[in-house]
Amino acid sequence: MAADSGKKPSANGGKAPAPNKASDSGGIAKRLPRIALMFLLALLYRQLQAPPPKIPGTPGGPPVTSPRIRLQDGRHLAYHESGVPKDQAKHKIIFVHGFDSCRYDVLRVSPELAQELGIYLLSFDRPGYGESDPHPGRTVKSIALDIEQLADAMELGPKFYLTGFSMGGEIMWSCLKYIPHRLAGVAILGPVGNYWWSGFPANVSREAWNVQVAQDKWAVGVAHHAPWLTYWWNTQKLFPASSVISFNPAIMSQEDMAVIPKFAYRSYAYQSRQQGEHESLHRDMMVGFGKWSWSPLELEDPFPGGEGKVHLWHGAEDLIVPVGLSRYISQRLPWVRYHELPTAGHLFPIADGMPDVILKSLLLGDDE
Ligand SMILES: *[C@@H]1O[C@H](CO)[C@@H](O)[C@H](O)[C@H]1NC(C)=O
Repeated sequence: MAADSGKKPSANGGKAPAPNKASDSGGIAKRLPRIALMFLLALLYRQLQAPPPKIPGTPGGPPVTSPRIRLQDGRHLAYHESGVPKDQAKHKIIFVHGFDSCRYDVLRVSPELAQELGIYLLSFDRPGYGESDPHPGRTVKSIALDIEQLADAMELGPKFYLTGFSMGGEIMWSCLKYIPHRLAGVAILGPVGNYWWSGFPANVSREAWNVQVAQDKWAVGVAHHAPWLTYWWNTQKLFPASSVISFNPAIMSQEDMAVIPKFAYRSYAYQSRQQGEHESLHRDMMVGFGKWSWSPLELEDPFPGGEGKVHLWHGAEDLIVPVGLSRYISQRLPWVRYHELPTAGHLFPIADGMPDVILKSLLLGDDE
C-alpha cells in the first residue's frame, strides 16, 4: 500500500537531513525512545488485529459449492437440505449448528422416521462459517432475524420448527425472544450459557463457571470483558487458549469419548473455519459470552395456548457446557419441558438413536 502513495523516496534515501546545528543530534536522541514506543505499539496493534476473513466465492476465498440465499443486507447464507423433499414435508425444521461446525452438522434423523413423520430439515452455515458471508456486526438479535429471512426465502410458511445445538442452542433463546410468532416448536440441545445473564443466583452461575477448565475460564472471560483481545488471546502462544478450539480431551466426558469416533464422517470439518478463525470462532465467543441486554429468564411462553412446546435437553455430565444454567432455567420457566440426561455429556445429539428421540419428542410430544 505504501508504494501506491505516490510519494517518491527522497534523494538521500529517507535519512534525516544533515544536521546544521550541533543541538539537533541531541533532539533525535531524545525522540528515539518515543519513536521506539510508537513502533512497539504499532506492532502490538497489528498482533491484536485479526486478518480479514476470506470471503466465499471471491479470489483467495473458499469456493461456493452449496446453494445460498441472499439476505436483505446483501449477505449470503449457504444451506443444506435433508430428510424428505420440502413439498412432501409435514414438519419443516430449521437446524442451527454449534461452535466450529457447519451446515452438514445437522441432526441425523433416520430415513425411516423422516419418511414416517414427513420431516424436512434445513440447516445453514451461520455467518462467518462454511460458505455463508461473514457478519462482523453480528449480534444476539441479528441471527434470529437471519433465520426468519432464511425461512421466508425458502418458503417454509408462517411457522416452522427450530432446533439448535450448543452455540446453536443458545441462539434458540434469541429466536424465542425476537421471532416467537414464527415458531411451531423448539428443541434446545446442550445450549451454551452466558455466565453474566441476569437473574441467576450467584451460586448457580459460580458453580457452572467452575466446571470449566482454567484455560476456558480465561478464554470466556476475555471474550466477555475484553472482546477486542479475543483474537490475540486465542492465537498467542504464551498461555493456553480455549480448550474447545484446541480439542483438549480434558473436556470430554466418558460418553463423549465414545461418540468421538463417529466424527470420522466429518470429512467436511475443514469448512467450519475456512474463512479464518476470527469471523467464525472468535466472534461466536464474543457474542455468546458478551454483554446481553436481557436474560432467558425473562422470556415469556411463546405458546400460551399450548399450540407448541419448547424442549430443553442437557447432559448432566457435560464438561464443555456446564448443565447448571439450563437446570436453573428449567426451574424458573415452567413452560420449558426439561430433559436432563443423567449420563450424557455434550455430544448426545450425535449418539445412536438420539436424533430420532429428540425429534419424536418435539413433533409428537411422545415422552410425556
Ligand atoms: C444455591 O443456593 C440456594 C439457596 O441457598 C440453594 O437452595 C441451591 O441449592 C444452591 N444451588 C447451587 C447450584 O449451589
